[in-house]
Amino acid sequence: MAIRSIRTEEDEILRKKSKEVDVIDDRIRELVKDMVETMHKYDGVGLAAVQVGILKQIIVIDLYDEKPVIKIINPKIIKTKGEQEVDEGCLSFPNKYVKVKRPEEVVVEGLDENGKKIKITGTGLLAQAISHEVDHLHGIVLTDVMIPGTMEYITPDSIEEKKSKK
Ligand code: NI
Repeated sequence: MAIRSIRTEEDEILRKKSKEVDVIDDRIRELVKDMVETMHKYDGVGLAAVQVGILKQIIVIDLYDEKPVIKIINPKIIKTKGEQEVDEGCLSFPNKYVKVKRPEEVVVEGLDENGKKIKITGTGLLAQAISHEVDHLHGIVLTDVMIPGTMEYITPDSIEEKKSKK
């Protein structure tokens, strides 16, 4: 396992479309493990393979809710329902937060690390995370979907300020 370096906003690769995974082999499983490790290292809720420089349709999500980490290969959103306006960040946009509209519920299909078909229904934060990560696979990033004028920059200073207010 290894921590991989995260591509950030100025990197053109984030604008590219990821390709479907044809064969799920040990190399893919290794990549998935590295993605989970990298997401945890940087306290992310989700990560798409393109963010570690690999244009393959793979996403991982962890809401830190004691449920297993979600790993989906070739994810496809087959249904959405409702709408929620939420604050959102991205490991590729460090210290930036925006407001976006996301579906309230998302149904996604794909494959697990063993090539078995999976189907997950997510609501709230999980729906938001699935929607965000699947966007990455289509070359769509935070600034493309943000509600205009809502970007906030969180500097270490302002984090300290927030903490001291509590
Ligand atoms: Ni992201």
